[in-house]
Amino acid sequence: MSVTAVVGGQWGDEGKGRVVDYLSQRADMVIRYQGGDNAGHTVVNEFGTFKLHMVPSGIFNPQTVCVVGTGTVVNPPGLLAEMDTVAAAGVSLDNLWISNRAHVVLPYHPRLDALREARAGDKKIGTTKRGIGPTYADKAARIGVRVGDLLRPQYLRGRLEQVIPIKNQLLAHHDLPLIEFEPLWEQCVAWGKALQHRIVDVLPMIQKAVTNGQRVLLEGQLGVMRDLDWGIYPYVTSSNPATGGACSGAGIPPTRIDEVIGVVKAYATAVGAGPFPVELFDEDGQKLRDVGHEYGATTGRPRRCGWFDGVAIQYAMWLNGVTALAITKLDVLDDFDQIKVCVGYQLDGERLRHFPDTPDLERVTPVYETWPGWKTSTRQARTWDDLPKAARNYLHRLAELAGCPIRYVSVGPERPALVVLDTFGVQDLGGNA
Ligand code: GDP
Ligand code: IMO
Ligand code: MG
Repeated sequence: MSVTAVVGGQWGDEGKGRVVDYLSQRADMVIRYQGGDNAGHTVVNEFGTFKLHMVPSGIFNPQTVCVVGTGTVVNPPGLLAEMDTVAAAGVSLDNLWISNRAHVVLPYHPRLDALREARAGDKKIGTTKRGIGPTYADKAARIGVRVGDLLRPQYLRGRLEQVIPIKNQLLAHHDLPLIEFEPLWEQCVAWGKALQHRIVDVLPMIQKAVTNGQRVLLEGQLGVMRDLDWGIYPYVTSSNPATGGACSGAGIPPTRIDEVIGVVKAYATAVGAGPFPVELFDEDGQKLRDVGHEYGATTGRPRRCGWFDGVAIQYAMWLNGVTALAITKLDVLDDFDQIKVCVGYQLDGERLRHFPDTPDLERVTPVYETWPGWKTSTRQARTWDDLPKAARNYLHRLAELAGCPIRYVSVGPERPALVVLDTFGVQDLGGNA
């Protein structure tokens, strides 16, 4: 299998960074295809612990070419600071490339993001305030600045001359300080100089890798529930985390994606606002948060926690075209007497047959079934047989609900803490995918 997308199957923070880091040991290329530094992908390996925001999680393998892809939005000072952090840990950045077609998060984008949130009252999205929405909005409105523009000072000047008056009109309307043209232009040119050796047309290298059958990973940001089109709109991000976004964002046609790994936690978390039917407000929810260290990797906000949502997963499986699951954080459930799984939604006294849109999702009541806990540590498990019987039964149920086999079960944040089911168990692990 040469091209594998690794996508989030829930509300984000499923452990994509952890899975991509593991798979990168044998990958020739990793491409981040959408999103920006709203992402926080945690990687724990021999170099240390990292919360990567923009740098692809394959960076730790010196043989892996890492691409910040065309569908991303790049915050240059954030990326430069992150590169420094990674380099300081002894990691080579020689193979890091940035698409000239990616868009630039300019200083006014986070300001406008924060302003929108501040003025939204109880209609807040709960964004990361990294300027993601405003940057993608400008991209769609065709008033964005692209990374390649940073290398062409005169062209950039022309672009900014077009864009800044529009932005200043908006800022003036909100009584905010206006953008000064020359300092911004100079700043952009300086960012271009700092990144100049890495900004390239990435398509030729991607085409070559794919055509030569190299192992390419597409690293998703966030999860399908926050997808701009299919997520819980308007409580979504402004890009497409679902696999479709990988095609446009990376520049790889759908016919060339061989495999899609859907990364899902063994329970559910969400950070930010919006309907989250399985959310727990009781001591089980607090226990999931405490044991799972469920605090946002980017903003530090406590994550909302709940049981596994078997309705949402079916929706996510279809939209992502998942061919195999990576279930993470199984170990977090080690000490629960009972574990619940949402197997349906009730709305107005009826059982729903499909995952509903936001206004209905806000009103559903989850239907749970209860599974016995295993009350023993899975942290050292490395094979299917190492897992307690009750844990295997639970995983079977998740695979059945998803209609898809499980390939990986993660039992700790560190790279080796993984049960790999490559060669066996796939059929009886379920489903009909
Ligand atoms: P991502 O955004 O999808 O890459 O996920 P995050 O890094 O935001 O959140 C996942 C968190 O769970 C991180 O703190 C990881 O170190 C941690 N993690 C990943 N897999 C496991 C696991 O199997 N067990 C435990 N206990 N922690 C894990
Ligand atoms: P990773 O890649 C979890 C959430 C925000 C908010 C919504 C929109 O680590 O899974 P945005 O800043 O994108 O405009 O915010 O999306 N959000 C995330 N939640 N993990 C992330 O990234 C997130 N990136 C954004 O909390 O609800
Ligand atoms: Mg994260």
